[in-house]
Amino acid sequence: MKNPRGRGLTVLRNRWSLHGNTSPVLHHHRDDMAWTDIADRIVEEIKPFTMVPKVGIVKTIELAISAIENGHRGDFVECGTWLGGSSFAMLLAQRYHFGEIRKPVWMLDSFQGLPPTDERDGPMALNYTATAYEPGNWDNCTAPIERVREAIAAFGFSNAEAIVVPGWFNDTIPAHKSEIAKRGISLLRADCDWYEPVHYVLTELAPFVCEEGAIIIDDYFAWDGCARAAHAFLTENDLSWRIRSMDDFHGAWMIKRAHRTGAL
Ligand SMILES: C[S@@+](CC[C@H](N)C(=O)[O-])C[C@H]1O[C@@H](n2cnc3c(N)ncnc32)[C@H](O)[C@@H]1O
Repeated sequence: MKNPRGRGLTVLRNRWSLHGNTSPVLHHHRDDMAWTDIADRIVEEIKPFTMVPKVGIVKTIELAISAIENGHRGDFVECGTWLGGSSFAMLLAQRYHFGEIRKPVWMLDSFQGLPPTDERDGPMALNYTATAYEPGNWDNCTAPIERVREAIAAFGFSNAEAIVVPGWFNDTIPAHKSEIAKRGISLLRADCDWYEPVHYVLTELAPFVCEEGAIIIDDYFAWDGCARAAHAFLTENDLSWRIRSMDDFHGAWMIKRAHRTGAL
């Protein structure tokens, strides 16, 4: 969750260099204007279902398309969907870009709001928790699942394309772990704000992300606990993955890469 301060992003800067200068990423023959139009259209369509600003949605779309174009193995997984906007963006990007949905999106959320914070989340988060049901605070990020299902139906996504998994991560991830492991993950969105869920999601699911796959840590700049969880996960696992900032620090992302290969 973050302040809805998405600014007009008129140019998709650096969109041809998502993974540094070694990846062809998005086809060079693509018409820039057409691509910008697609991104703008998706941002508009999913706006009622997301609190992620435009920069974060555009990066999500870019990483989803590049995962497919680069032949990365595995599904897309979002942990912390709220009303589903970011997940819908990953599906619509495929529909508009490829004319079909090639990778499903797993949509994991409690649909009961955020769990409690603890000291690791920092004073801003503790203050948010204390006022989470006051006006303007998103009802502790509670998303009624019926609204999510209605939106899925309205967009015309099938149950096999938008795989909704309601419940707390420490119940749902173990329950679906073997299936997710079998299918693999080519793009993981960790958008669950607090230390405990972010650390849990990274620990449990990052092992199934393919080499060169992307992991978005949506709240890295928004909340201390999320940043701490990402750092702890990398340190505990002795990983050298670089944390990359989205434009204007609207979120962070990493590429799962065993070793530096000379590129970014
Ligand atoms: C900021 S919202 C996600 C925003 C969303 N991705 C979007 O596009 O607007 C964070 C979500 O994480 C979910 N969440 C956080 N911790 C969780 C946990 N341990 N288990 C299940 N859901 C969790 C909350 O229910 C909430 O919907």
